[in-house]
Amino acid sequence: MTEIIGGISRSRIAAVREHETMVYVAARPRSEAAIGKGAQGYLGGVPMHWMRDWPMPFPFIVKKAKGAKLTDIDGIRLADFCLGDTGSMFGHSPAPVADAIRRQARRGLTYMLPNSDALAVGTLLSERFGLPYWQVATTASDANRFALRVARAITNRSKILVFNGSYHGAVDETFVQLQHGDQTNKKGLAGEFRDLTQGAVAVEFNDIEAVEKALAEGDIACVITEPVMTNSCMVLPQPGFHDALRAATRKHGTLLLIDETHTISTGPGGYTRAYGLEPDLFVLGKPIAGGVPASVWGMSADVAARWQEYEATKEPGYSGMGTTLSANPLQFAAMRAMLEDVMTDDAYKWMEERAERLQEGLAKVIEDNGLAWHVVRVGARVEFICAPGPLANGTEAAQAHAPELESVIHLGLVNRGCLIAPFHNMMLVSPATKKKHVDRLIMAFEDIVSELAQ
Ligand SMILES: Cc1ncc(COP(=O)(O)O)c(C=O)c1O
Repeated sequence: MTEIIGGISRSRIAAVREHETMVYVAARPRSEAAIGKGAQGYLGGVPMHWMRDWPMPFPFIVKKAKGAKLTDIDGIRLADFCLGDTGSMFGHSPAPVADAIRRQARRGLTYMLPNSDALAVGTLLSERFGLPYWQVATTASDANRFALRVARAITNRSKILVFNGSYHGAVDETFVQLQHGDQTNKKGLAGEFRDLTQGAVAVEFNDIEAVEKALAEGDIACVITEPVMTNSCMVLPQPGFHDALRAATRKHGTLLLIDETHTISTGPGGYTRAYGLEPDLFVLGKPIAGGVPASVWGMSADVAARWQEYEATKEPGYSGMGTTLSANPLQFAAMRAMLEDVMTDDAYKWMEERAERLQEGLAKVIEDNGLAWHVVRVGARVEFICAPGPLANGTEAAQAHAPELESVIHLGLVNRGCLIAPFHNMMLVSPATKKKHVDRLIMAFEDIVSELAQ
């Protein structure tokens, strides 16, 4: 008997994959010649190993990306809903950012001193996100690492609590998971020889009892969480979860770090402002500088005061925080343009409206094809999940993930002119995304899903 994945037989998935692969290859002779067998000089044939994780037989070579569109060297144009896995959430090369970069490029790219853009950005961050003190780093991974260091330092506690199945970047102290109820290192880590469960504990998202129990041990410095779990199949917080989480962390003297790197799709002040969360520490990376590598991390007045006290007494030497190119003028030029001219209320309104249209369109396709799948959305970020919903936690999200089926859908969408994120079924709607792009994606989804569901 054939195995069924997400309501589709494995043999049908294989047949559709074969056909879609042929279509992809036939349309891209130039990309195939350039990278079909791997690009020279690169380990594994690509400059960064994630470039092999796309569902296509080989990646296409990008000629140009502008707004919500990508053009490859074979002249094929795609509506881009991946948007650099959020790095370009507000569209490729928004004009204010491109102009600011061009301007700054003539005035020095890094000098380890503040300039007037740096001064402006501090105020913009405080006003927008509500936390009074900020630091700048280069990646969201770094920002999370540094914020966690502050949390451990000022609480004098060693452990971090993470939610099972979450992802916060290349942050060693978050690489633990629950496996059949046991704490273990995450699977697949390269070169890891430490037992990371010594420094972190994983519990399920939406499980406030498990949070309470872990915090009651008294050794947890900080809970790090996204407001919505986005890095698995998307899991929304259940009603009351965030309030209970905040109350529990306060009760046990544990800090709360909210990582808004993806959920900034919610609104101008992220999920935090939209839903009145009160984090002690706040992290935002990827889109904050429109694709220029930059991240920011903010802290409450209480955390800042405790940090200053700690710093005044700590022994001299490198804190373990900071990298040379962080807080450079190119980052500030781009961030200022993003905060002042791109991540505006109007832009969010546009994104939200089109994302809602996309959500409804995809849900209808699923219903029309009689599939037990669901669609979930946080602001401008939409995701279809090839399993019933809603999902409650990381374990359920892992069970819902259907890579074999999803990768054929992704490939089918590319062949029909739409690119979505390779790692999950994420679709981002940018201020440059037009109604026609959304409708093209809905039609492409309809086409490939009905092919599969035949
Ligand atoms: C929620 C979240 N935080 C942090 C990161 C790390 O971002 P970066 O890879 O830019 O360091 C990611 C990356 O996907 C993320 O999804």
